[in-house]
Amino acid sequence: MSEESTAADRACEENPGQFDTLVNLAKRRGFIFPSAEIYGGIRSTYDYGPLGALMLRNVREAWWQTIVRERDDVVPIEAAIITNPKVWEASGHLETFADPLVDCRSCHERWRADEIGGVCPNCGSADLTEARPFNLMFKTFVGPVDDESAVAYLRPETAQGMFVNFANVMTTMRRKPPFGIAQLGRGFRNEITPGNFVFRTREFEMMELEFFVPPAEAGRWFDYWCKERLAWYEKLGIRKDRLRFYEHAPEDLSHYSSATTDIEFAFPWGWGELEGIANRTDFDLKAHSTYSGVRLECFDQLTGERYIPHVIEPSAGATRAMMAFLLAAYDEDEIGGERRTVLRLRPQLAPFQAAVLPLSKKPPLDALARDVLHRCQIALMCEYDDTQSIGRRYRRQDEIGTPFCVTVDFDSLNDQAVTIRERDTTNQVRVPISDVVSELQDRIRS
Ligand code: GAP
Repeated sequence: MSEESTAADRACEENPGQFDTLVNLAKRRGFIFPSAEIYGGIRSTYDYGPLGALMLRNVREAWWQTIVRERDDVVPIEAAIITNPKVWEASGHLETFADPLVDCRSCHERWRADEIGGVCPNCGSADLTEARPFNLMFKTFVGPVDDESAVAYLRPETAQGMFVNFANVMTTMRRKPPFGIAQLGRGFRNEITPGNFVFRTREFEMMELEFFVPPAEAGRWFDYWCKERLAWYEKLGIRKDRLRFYEHAPEDLSHYSSATTDIEFAFPWGWGELEGIANRTDFDLKAHSTYSGVRLECFDQLTGERYIPHVIEPSAGATRAMMAFLLAAYDEDEIGGERRTVLRLRPQLAPFQAAVLPLSKKPPLDALARDVLHRCQIALMCEYDDTQSIGRRYRRQDEIGTPFCVTVDFDSLNDQAVTIRERDTTNQVRVPISDVVSELQDRIRS
């Protein structure tokens, strides 16, 4: 057995029922709900509840921090989801963005041929139709007339928004390669077999960077981005042995790519892609130059020549990454002889960074606790919980990954201090109310 498969196996062995437990926790605690559940839902479509919305926002923010805010060579855009359909003609999506579809002649289920090894997973029959290409783009109509001239598509990737705006961005921001354009947003794919919770859904969130480089530098930047992106997942709490690189064989590359390396995570069912880093060469800019008639090129002042830059693209799924962060953080341990479930999320990913817990919901403690809450809320996302025993409240916060609980007790009225309790160690320290925010911020940063 290879070292890599043992990491995935270990992820299952450590907690074989972890996946179901996590899906259950996500629903029970308000992270992720089946979409429109009161109408029976719609297959493999999910809504992000209050905690999910907070956490997804933190995942986006963590990406934005390293890709946009901490760099001076990347600028962001927000492009339209429904755009001119010529974009998808030029990009090759209309012709080639398809999966091989087969029908089972026995039970009439539909499958992706490349995923089932010739046997229907539903009934076990090998009596399948010939595989035929099924385009994954969602079609719609723009305006009141639904004829062919009004056809448009929901974007299957955000990347094309960066390519079609290349010249506008380069000119308005006075950039020259190497530089990147970054975008976060929803992508839509009519997946044949969505599943494994939010791993593969038809609507999902992407975090993409198109990094434009002089062609001779493409190899170096490709290696650079592979390392940078792997480090991002590690920094946010995924253990090294649950991550690996997977290099695509030449015959498996997408139509636009000359090299692709995926960052994979050991999901409970095996290794799965979190992010793909692709060398898209000059494929997209060339194609859009041809189709639009607008030259998408740069000028090299040293050689006096015009050239089309190559593109290195780290492309990640925010919703899929959120699920991986949840799985990596899930743990069960024992505190004072009692079992507890704890999400060991990095503070910047946790839905709440702190919970303020007064020992009594009555005056005068409630007013002091509200004062502590208002101080903390300015800097951190906080929850206020004044119901049930303090032990139960700690467990509730542990289960949703809140790294710090701030307990306001009767002594607080006299000493103007509170207790900060740390999720992972359950250690407690007493700090003056005037220092509570800076104390929490220091702990979150460390
Ligand atoms: N522009 C390149 C591109 O779209 P991709 O590998 O097809 O590449 C990038 O998608 C990332 O988006 C994937 O690594 C994955 O994290 C996420 N992703 C793709 N399809 C998805 C789906 N149906 N549901 C959830 N996430 C998805």
